[in-house]
Amino acid sequence: MSSSSRRHFLDSLARRAPIATAGLVSVLHPAGEKILANASPDSDDFRTKARAEYTNSITASRDTNISPKEAYDSILNFLSSNQNDGAESTKLALDVGAGAGLSTSYLFHELGYKHIDAVDWSGDAWRSNVEQTPSSVRFFELDDDSFFGTVADKEERKYDVICYNFAINPSKAVRVARQYLTETGVLFAPVNDRPEYWYKQTYYKFNVNGQVVQKSQADVGAWSVQFQPDVTSDTCIGIWCGNTNGFFAKRQARSGF
Ligand SMILES: C[S@@+](CC[C@H](N)C(=O)[O-])C[C@H]1O[C@@H](n2cnc3c(N)ncnc32)[C@H](O)[C@@H]1O
Repeated sequence: MSSSSRRHFLDSLARRAPIATAGLVSVLHPAGEKILANASPDSDDFRTKARAEYTNSITASRDTNISPKEAYDSILNFLSSNQNDGAESTKLALDVGAGAGLSTSYLFHELGYKHIDAVDWSGDAWRSNVEQTPSSVRFFELDDDSFFGTVADKEERKYDVICYNFAINPSKAVRVARQYLTETGVLFAPVNDRPEYWYKQTYYKFNVNGQVVQKSQADVGAWSVQFQPDVTSDTCIGIWCGNTNGFFAKRQARSGF
């Protein structure tokens, strides 16, 4: 994508008007992006119906699988070790590929982050599972690249923790860590074992310099890590990829590229 067509795409997102959807209110954020918030914004709790089970993934919508429970155990293992200093309630977390909100719930309830930006290009699983959100949890129906290019850049947001829930290339993990983490922040992601190879991932934790500070074993018990791929990639093949699941078509309809 050229920088001018990307700019056009981002500008067209920023001009979108507020809309109402069943059980949810879409409001226009000051930065101009669509946020889905629960209809009871005075709530101070976050609640989703989504549940995980060991070894199996569960279909939450046409676009979203809830990961096997091992994935959520790994989030806790990797992110509680050096983050749990009691100040999480004032820190800022980013949940990328938030799907049905179960990873958001782990960040909120188990790890204590109360200020969370949750991002997914498809809001279907969020709409059918998330029952309650406080105003400090914001959901953006955007792919990660568009989110960074609009909300995060405009608000000059830096995150104490970034949690990716889909497979990404090593280069994206390093770039996002360097650009969007606070000085002491960490980025956790299932990273492709080889660039553009979408069939096997390893968990990595990066610091703000893009250095690896922790890495999982190749397999977690009997569970081999294979995640839904990054829909913005044009190298992946399969039902979860941008050219087959409608993401590229949706992006083109929005922006004309
Ligand atoms: C394994 S599911 C996440 C489940 C979710 N974390 C939960 O706990 O309910 C992966 C999600 O990543 C989303 N996804 C894939 N590529 C994305 C991208 N580039 N930007 C935003 N979301 C993306 C998919 O739509 C899908 O919902």
